[in-house]
Amino acid sequence: MTASETLYERALKHIPWGTQTNAKRPILEYSGTMPYFIERAKGCRFWDVDGDEYIDYRLSLGPVILGYGYPSVDAAVKEQLEKGVLFSMASPVEIELAEAISRIVPSMEMVRFGKNGVDANASNLRIARAYSGKDKMIRCGYNGYHDWFSTGISGNGVPRSLADYVYEVRYGDVEQVESILKRDASSISCILSSPYDFNEDISGDYPRALRKLADEYGVILIFDEVLTGFRLSIGGAQEYFGVRPDLSSFAKAVANGFPLSVFGGKRKHMQKLNDFVITATYAGEALSIAAAIATLKVMEKEKVHEHIYKMGRRLMDGFTAIAKRVGVEVKIGGFPVASYFLFDYKDADKNKKLHVELNRELYKERVFVYDRWFMSFSHKEADIDLTLERFERALKKAVKD
Ligand SMILES: Cc1ncc(COP(=O)(O)O)c(C=O)c1O
Repeated sequence: MTASETLYERALKHIPWGTQTNAKRPILEYSGTMPYFIERAKGCRFWDVDGDEYIDYRLSLGPVILGYGYPSVDAAVKEQLEKGVLFSMASPVEIELAEAISRIVPSMEMVRFGKNGVDANASNLRIARAYSGKDKMIRCGYNGYHDWFSTGISGNGVPRSLADYVYEVRYGDVEQVESILKRDASSISCILSSPYDFNEDISGDYPRALRKLADEYGVILIFDEVLTGFRLSIGGAQEYFGVRPDLSSFAKAVANGFPLSVFGGKRKHMQKLNDFVITATYAGEALSIAAAIATLKVMEKEKVHEHIYKMGRRLMDGFTAIAKRVGVEVKIGGFPVASYFLFDYKDADKNKKLHVELNRELYKERVFVYDRWFMSFSHKEADIDLTLERFERALKKAVKD
């Protein structure tokens, strides 16, 4: 047994799933190849508990946009640690970060902080309900494990009655959103959706259509930018597509892996917070706030996005050339900062099987990815080229078996 497998057995005795995060659960299809536990990470690489070194394209599910252990971020955190982590009253770093975010993301006239994407979205929904006086919502995709996620399913701890308050829509289905608004806009507080879900449509038509519908029917538009924020561009998908939401949720890339989320938007909506309570003991935790300030400074000064797009394009171009050489039907797409490589045969089962085979071979080649290839500022040309070399070997083996 590998050290990963031994630890997994031990973890399962006291930790359901053996881990805290759904996407970090070991997948049996990959057993024997997937690193289950990671010991340390630096730059674009990590070392698992078996001592193997991987080039990482999962980047902790998105947050690590500068790379692991990025020097100026870690230095800012150490400096803050000397001063303190959590105080008995607010810390000035909260103001510094709020000002930086408002400058970088203009729709964020006022902001508050949290710890995860889940609490940022929950807070924005509360604000939308309180401001509008309406209880229902239209939601799309995964926004967190809230009570309003997975409604109407028995056995998951969500009160069945909540289904009456939630309209769940398919990403990109503007007609579906419009038909719901036509019927019930007078009860609907908001539309909560990611402005981009890393699919093939990179036109921005969907978030633009949502803006139009929200205005037409008088509902609040909330963008879930947990994954797109500070990644598609420094100002998120809203900057990239030129669409201004009323409220937004950010998390992942804002603090390069330190636990911080940000919610906020228009002053008139955010001032509603003076009338009721959204509060959390750790929301002003200063290490993560210092990390975010330092992360945003690097993004503003060092052409981070130019670099990650360039590296992402290099990777995608490489994929295209390799797929042609190996002779496989594939779909390569998304944004270079988080692209995908999928098999594209008519037979869906075959595509799935090949995807699993490819990932297994990639893990053996010490390249770590799942479905999206996240890019960081620490991935340099040599890392991409080495990845492509390994990728070609992995692809050839995956299609041969
Ligand atoms: C678009 C989106 N929204 C919200 C969340 C929830 O964020 P968190 O896991 O930080 O609570 C996720 C997590 O992957 C996400 O991708």
